[in-house]
Amino acid sequence: MSNIQSYISEHKDRFLNELLELLKIPSISADSAYKNDVLKTADVIKDSLLKAGCDHVEVCKTDGYPIVYGEKIIDSNLPTVLVYGHYDVQPPDPLDLWDSPPFEPVIKNTELHPEGAIFARGACDDKGQMYMHVKAMEFMTSQDELPCNVKFMIEGEEEVGSENLGVFVKANREKLKNDVILISDTGMIAKDVPSITTGLRGLSYVEVEVTGPNRDLHSGLYGGAVANPINILTKMIASLHDENNHITIPRFYDKVENLSNDERAEMAKAPFSLEAYKKALDIDAVYGEESYTTNERNSIRPTLDVNGIWGGYTGEGAKTVIASKAYAKISMRLVPNQDWEEITDLFKSHFESIAPKGVKVKVTPHHGGQGYVTPIDSLGYKAASKAYEQTFGKTPIPQRSGGSIPIVSLFEQELESKTILMGFGLDSDAIHSPNEHFGIWNYFKGIETIPYFYKYFTELKNK
Ligand code: BES
Ligand code: MN
Ligand code: MN
Repeated sequence: MSNIQSYISEHKDRFLNELLELLKIPSISADSAYKNDVLKTADVIKDSLLKAGCDHVEVCKTDGYPIVYGEKIIDSNLPTVLVYGHYDVQPPDPLDLWDSPPFEPVIKNTELHPEGAIFARGACDDKGQMYMHVKAMEFMTSQDELPCNVKFMIEGEEEVGSENLGVFVKANREKLKNDVILISDTGMIAKDVPSITTGLRGLSYVEVEVTGPNRDLHSGLYGGAVANPINILTKMIASLHDENNHITIPRFYDKVENLSNDERAEMAKAPFSLEAYKKALDIDAVYGEESYTTNERNSIRPTLDVNGIWGGYTGEGAKTVIASKAYAKISMRLVPNQDWEEITDLFKSHFESIAPKGVKVKVTPHHGGQGYVTPIDSLGYKAASKAYEQTFGKTPIPQRSGGSIPIVSLFEQELESKTILMGFGLDSDAIHSPNEHFGIWNYFKGIETIPYFYKYFTELKNK
């Protein structure tokens, strides 16, 4: 496949411009004001799959945003790779922290991306990474290098919990039948340290509401004599961690998979600089659960974090008031074997049980999903490893990620195949944050590496 590099350099500008066009559409799934843009993006993906050589493409309706399905079946005796990605993006706010508008992509150089990086919402998560697969497909079909069957399933609701995709998968097991699932929606350690993501954390996301008096009160006339919901809520939240930063919810850790010392020693071999980590975030110390390293804290250990908290007066100046209500959004990242629905129930009963007299507490679960781990001796992992060796000249390091793609465990359960996570983003790409970007080098390296996965997977499967 020596001509992949020349194919890329020949079509470089077009490959880049097509992605820039895709990034201009604000496909924000969380905000219904962007409904038409999300729908339009699905159509653009459909056209791109047809142009890339799929024989059959459809925009499949769901109760929410559609799923774009495409396929090219060359021989039913050959293996089938199912590619998953998402065309929706996170809301871009806070807008004033962006150096350029989120849906007007620009290319700028950064310290880590001297070849340039594309700045736009969705550049890395996941339009840029998903589109690498479309362009790799174009190369393989146009150059007669496609060694096996391909199916694409690109959804528009990943950032809001993939609920309708779950329904679609359960209803279309036969159509989606495959030998391996391939996803680029994670990251790698560094440009010169390729890695394959072997784990994802699960998630339980809840919203809590604390109600005190039936109306907002004068904080002088009533202060000190009634429960202040904000004081109470913050106290309750603070009690969810002990002095060692262990989570205090009873039975929260019961099912947590404990890694052996050997496995932890293996993990610690991955290159990591605590100094560089602190410097990049401008913090003077890291913080977290006692007895675990930073990389353990953000991958193999569960967490509980407040994602937002509000209530009372937050406008200009001062207003002396005791609010009637206080709210918070809380996420718990879970590790394999923890069941997200069980954890949601444990949280709910505990949180209700610690509320003092004088307030009412309401816990509303949002979405969630199970964690995922994949072995490194599967054919898919081996094929991916060989693909990276080919294009990076190095064996990739298996690495568990702290992020979540809840649908992956459902894929394994319903479709009975392993998922291989070939991510090409960097932690510093600022996904979900202002100034999200994706390195141009990473984009083309992904396009270059993906066809080798198909080649080696087909070879290993036919052995
Ligand atoms: N692509 C991310 C997940 C990710 C990023 C995993 C980097 C590993 C490394 C995905 O789009 C995402 O943001 N997932 C959400 C969960 C979802 C239910 C909203 C997350 O992890 O917060
Ligand atoms: Mn994503
Ligand atoms: Mn995301």
